[in-house]
Amino acid sequence: MTILVTGGAGFIGSHIVDAVADQGNEVICLDSLDPGVHRGAPGYLRDDVEYCFADLRHWQPDDRFQEVTAIVHLAALGGVSRAAREPENVITANCAGTARLIEHARFWPRLRSVVLASSFSVYGSGYTYACLDCGARRTGERNEADLAAARFEVVCAECGGQTTIEPITEGATPSPLETYAASKYMQELCFRAFSRCPVHIMRFSSVYGSRLRLDDGEATIIAKLAGWIGSGHRPKLFEDGEQIRDWVYVGDVVAAAMALLDQDTSQVVNVCSGVPTTLRAACEVIGEALGMDGAPEIVGGFRPGDMRHCLGDPSRLASLIGREPLSFAEGAGLAFAAQQGQHA
Ligand SMILES: NC(=O)c1ccc[n+]([C@@H]2O[C@H](COP(=O)([O-])OP(=O)(O)OC[C@H]3O[C@@H](n4cnc5c(N)ncnc54)[C@H](O)[C@@H]3O)[C@@H](O)[C@H]2O)c1
Ligand SMILES: [Zn+2]
Repeated sequence: MTILVTGGAGFIGSHIVDAVADQGNEVICLDSLDPGVHRGAPGYLRDDVEYCFADLRHWQPDDRFQEVTAIVHLAALGGVSRAAREPENVITANCAGTARLIEHARFWPRLRSVVLASSFSVYGSGYTYACLDCGARRTGERNEADLAAARFEVVCAECGGQTTIEPITEGATPSPLETYAASKYMQELCFRAFSRCPVHIMRFSSVYGSRLRLDDGEATIIAKLAGWIGSGHRPKLFEDGEQIRDWVYVGDVVAAAMALLDQDTSQVVNVCSGVPTTLRAACEVIGEALGMDGAPEIVGGFRPGDMRHCLGDPSRLASLIGREPLSFAEGAGLAFAAQQGQHA
């Protein structure tokens, strides 16, 4: 097999490149080495992989792409704040880039499978909360007066009781709320009319693992927490630190991509852990993994628009990879102990 990994010099892509190359496949990695992400070529690039350093927006495929049997498409500019600062760059890199990939790939004679990296951000605020007392269900919308009064939890609209978030399934209607999420959903839509072969969509929650950049302006919350704790700074948490997030280990992302490459019918799969983990608990777990004090400082306050909780349903992922994905407590030791080694 000849596998094209776009974005293969990035955090997740490099792990997928390792897995497909270690299985003995020919691998072509297409990556722009975007200057907002990389300071030159990262040290983990491999000698047995062909790198094509090009931006999808302007890329002209040469003859070797005629051999491609499968594509794992991860090339994208990430970050909600970057997308707010550079909407044209992000939209064109992600959407026009994907359209250009499709324009060429539809003629590749051996192509059998496409796997696209999408995101939980496409779900927007489409989470449902169920009342533990009366069972009534509601959305997670919160008003600023409640937040200002430090009433952070989403309470039942009928009886005021405590609620619990329902894990979101792939059947939820996408409803992106900002530019980055819109670009990820547009990537999915770009493949709607692609009839050459199955197209599988992986929607990642938030991914952690070795090679996660901790010092990057676009760093996700989990990267920031690990960066602060690793450098001896006490992490500061908004609200009360009890916000639930769903973090997935990069090894489970790789397992999902590898399994999807072999599937004959197109699938949409949440790639998440499904294990509710609070920000406060995540700090403790990271501290333990790094051998540092992870105790957070709860600064209170809030950011308008933040979701109280995010949680995915990993049932499809579990049946795809034949096991439950790792919880954050299980994956953090692998991820952050390795990360510590990298900087040493
Ligand atoms: N990291 C997460 O938590 C997360 C969550 C949800 C979805 N995703 C998605 O997973 C994919 C990989 O994410 P990551 O965290 O590894 O990001 P990353 O920034 O580490 O890697 C992305 C790579 O794509 C390259 N790239 C960007 N635009 C390109 C273009 N137009 N042409 C060629 N190369 C281009 C960059 O140079 C970079 O190496 C992305 O599609 C991202 O949207 C990531
Ligand atoms: Zn109720």
